[in-house]
Amino acid sequence: MLNRDGARSGNMRRGLFCVARGRQGRAVAMGIIRFIKEESKVIRERDPAIHSGLEVFLYPSFKAMVYYRLAHRLYEKKHYFWARLISQRGAHKTGIEIHPGAKIGKGFFIDHGHGVIIGETTVIGDNVTLYQGVTLGGTGKEHGKRHPTLGNNVMVSAGAKVLGSFTIGENSKIGAGSVVLNEVPPNSTVVGVPGRVVKRGNASVPREDMCQVDLPNPVQEDIQKLQQANAVLTNRLLDLENEMRLLRRKRETEEQKEPNIKAESTK
Ligand SMILES: CC(C)(COP(=O)(O)OP(=O)(O)OC[C@H]1O[C@@H](n2cnc3c(N)ncnc32)[C@H](O)[C@@H]1OP(=O)(O)O)[C@@H](O)C(=O)NCCC(=O)NCCS
Repeated sequence: MLNRDGARSGNMRRGLFCVARGRQGRAVAMGIIRFIKEESKVIRERDPAIHSGLEVFLYPSFKAMVYYRLAHRLYEKKHYFWARLISQRGAHKTGIEIHPGAKIGKGFFIDHGHGVIIGETTVIGDNVTLYQGVTLGGTGKEHGKRHPTLGNNVMVSAGAKVLGSFTIGENSKIGAGSVVLNEVPPNSTVVGVPGRVVKRGNASVPREDMCQVDLPNPVQEDIQKLQQANAVLTNRLLDLENEMRLLRRKRETEEQKEPNIKAESTK
């Protein structure tokens, strides 16, 4: 009787485990299918060069996001080594290096991809697009939150560098090759090195208003410092010339006096 009960409860446990495993497996499978569908939709929307659904699997962005989502889960569970290992494998396979600590929203797409670096404390909103060669990095001068926050619908063009812990406002565009070092308001276009706002709310920004991204100009500052040092040296040289002239004049008058003194003494 006991044996029969034990066997029955063992069977029941195994049965429940199978159901649970079946449910878990189904949930995982559903999650994967949902992920593929979402990624496929994003890539089809953003890249006019795609012709068939199967091509999605060949996109570095798709592969990078598979590695990232896995690595980020492990990072959140504090399995830092494994998170980093998977992230580095992803970087090796795709040329896209996303730190597992970065937070990335829905609808994220990296076109082409090679040379993209995303730092640990980066926060990326929904529907953000990056192109190849983009760095979302730190300046090396900050601690804690060191990397940028990108609002929803931001686009960062090829080769642009966004460095520091400021925010790029939603719907903003960063032009190709720009270096952005300061906060960008929403609905803006930023171009150049250092980056400056050239358009806000689809209207061009007049040149005098462009101090919105008021960035220091190190070359200008160096030239000013050199000019100041040059002025100090010139003044010093003029002083020395005056002193020399006075000394020369003094010696000449002394030399003129000397023969008169000699003549008087011989008398
Ligand atoms: C910035 C960008 C997104 C355009 O944004 P936009 O809001 O439509 O801005 P506009 O094209 O009206 O340009 C505004 C001004 O910035 C200038 N500008 C645009 N992009 C620039 C850049 N990358 N560097 C310097 N100046 C730039 C324009 O000449 C224009 O100047 P003007 O007002 O004196 O004529 C676009 O120029 C860009 O850089 N695209 C790159 C996309 C990319 O990376 N593609 C790679 C595919 S592989």
